[in-house]
Amino acid sequence: MGPIDRLIVGVSGSSAPQLALTMLQALKEMESIEVHLVLSKGAEKSIAYELGMTRKEIEAYGNVVYDPEDLGAAISSGSFKTMGMVVIPCSMRTLAAVASGYTPDLLTRTADVCIKERRRLVLVTRETPLSLIHIKNMEAVTLAGGTILPPVPAFYHKPKSIDDLLRQTVGKVLDQFEIEHHLFARWEGTEIG
Ligand SMILES: Cc1cc2nc3c(=O)[nH]c(=O)nc-3n(C[C@H](O)[C@H](O)[C@H](O)COP(=O)(O)O)c2cc1C
Repeated sequence: MGPIDRLIVGVSGSSAPQLALTMLQALKEMESIEVHLVLSKGAEKSIAYELGMTRKEIEAYGNVVYDPEDLGAAISSGSFKTMGMVVIPCSMRTLAAVASGYTPDLLTRTADVCIKERRRLVLVTRETPLSLIHIKNMEAVTLAGGTILPPVPAFYHKPKSIDDLLRQTVGKVLDQFEIEHHLFARWEGTEIG
């Protein structure tokens, strides 16, 4: 499989690990993307609490799975080519690490590598309300070339379930990597009034 088909998926310990599961299920169905998966240590708690699943059950969706403490892993180096990385969901702790360049674990190190290599980095940041510190960290990542893509629901596709809302956010993430999908109906324009 060529480098263009490798996508790094990071999962950190914020609320809404359902986003990660929806993303990983969608990628698995596609079969054309090689998923390199790294869960932070914090993710284990939110996955257990909100999904009732184990680290291993989520890791089963990855083609290649990494230990969050393995700083010698392939994805920790820029010489390992990928189409980029999404962190879904992204905690404020992970956002702060990426914004500051202080990257003690594999997930944050890999995000740092994407920035330095000018590869696509999408952070699905999950917190509300936002403090000025969060906003400044988002600014720093944006100025460095990353994309902040919070899970903000839209209603133009007439969602009928939570799953519809999750699929819309995941579809927006896939759009960032130009990965074709049919996760939600796109806005095609309409005559209002
Ligand atoms: C169930 C649960 C939900 C959480 N939700 C959030 C959240 O929405 N946003 C956030 O920034 N942190 C949240 N946290 C706190 C983070 O997990 C914590 O800051 C952790 O240190 C993040 O580490 P990581 O970024 O390495 O995963 C949550 C923790 C738990 C246990």
